[in-house]
Amino acid sequence: MKTLFLSLFLLLFISAKSQDNVAKIVEYNLPSPSLKGSLSIEETLNSRRSRRSFEDGGVSVADLSQILWAAYGVTRPMTAPALRGGLRTAPSAGARYPLEIYAVVGNIPGIEAGLYKYDPQNHKIVMTIAGDLRKELTAAALNQKMVSEAPFSIFYSAIYSRITDRYGERGRERYVCMDLGHSAQNVYLQSESLNLGTCAIGAFNDELVTKVLQLPDNEAPLYIMPVGKYK
Ligand SMILES: Cc1cc2nc3c(=O)[nH]c(=O)nc-3n(C[C@H](O)[C@H](O)[C@H](O)COP(=O)(O)O)c2cc1C
Repeated sequence: MKTLFLSLFLLLFISAKSQDNVAKIVEYNLPSPSLKGSLSIEETLNSRRSRRSFEDGGVSVADLSQILWAAYGVTRPMTAPALRGGLRTAPSAGARYPLEIYAVVGNIPGIEAGLYKYDPQNHKIVMTIAGDLRKELTAAALNQKMVSEAPFSIFYSAIYSRITDRYGERGRERYVCMDLGHSAQNVYLQSESLNLGTCAIGAFNDELVTKVLQLPDNEAPLYIMPVGKYK
């Protein structure tokens, strides 16, 4: 009897321990984006500026959701697997959608700090690294301190093969960055219309950014866009 109890106890202990070791998946379904804003497109274009100084706070999950949707959200769901969800807010050469979009979250109430990949098809974010990466990312971005100040940054990488498979070198040299420009401009305009600001950052150390964000081998870093209430 004593041996039976001991074995049962050991079994329970081992099973509890192995559950501890199972990585917790952290993900958030984002609220639906709003299709109405308070500024006209003309007013937004007229006031858009690169903003480089931010308050650490003052943004909500709804702001994050709206900006990710503006960047690459699905606006016409379609089932063809290559579209990974459907047509988007931004145009893309051959609808190949080579961009991957992340949120580097530091201070958004209700969202654990960390790096998240945006899933446009399901309009959700899935954590890939836990913890506040803003300081390390600032160092990788040549110490541009707006990256530490802003409550979150949008980060873009590209999977070039999605474009080069069809368009070869023309796709690598031209189309990926054209796609990026379309999407990033949406981030600028959406931020501005929410009374937030952003700045496209292209000056950073590629190796360091890749290391800090633990990017897979097939993803190349392109832009960091800190977002927040600007001073
Ligand atoms: C490809 C590209 C890279 C950029 N990289 C940086 C950067 O690393 N740091 C920065 O402060 N601004 C950066 N900017 C923002 C430009 O400096 C800014 O757009 C320009 O000064 C014009 O100002 P405006 O955006 O307010 O009209 C970049 C812009 C582009 C298009």
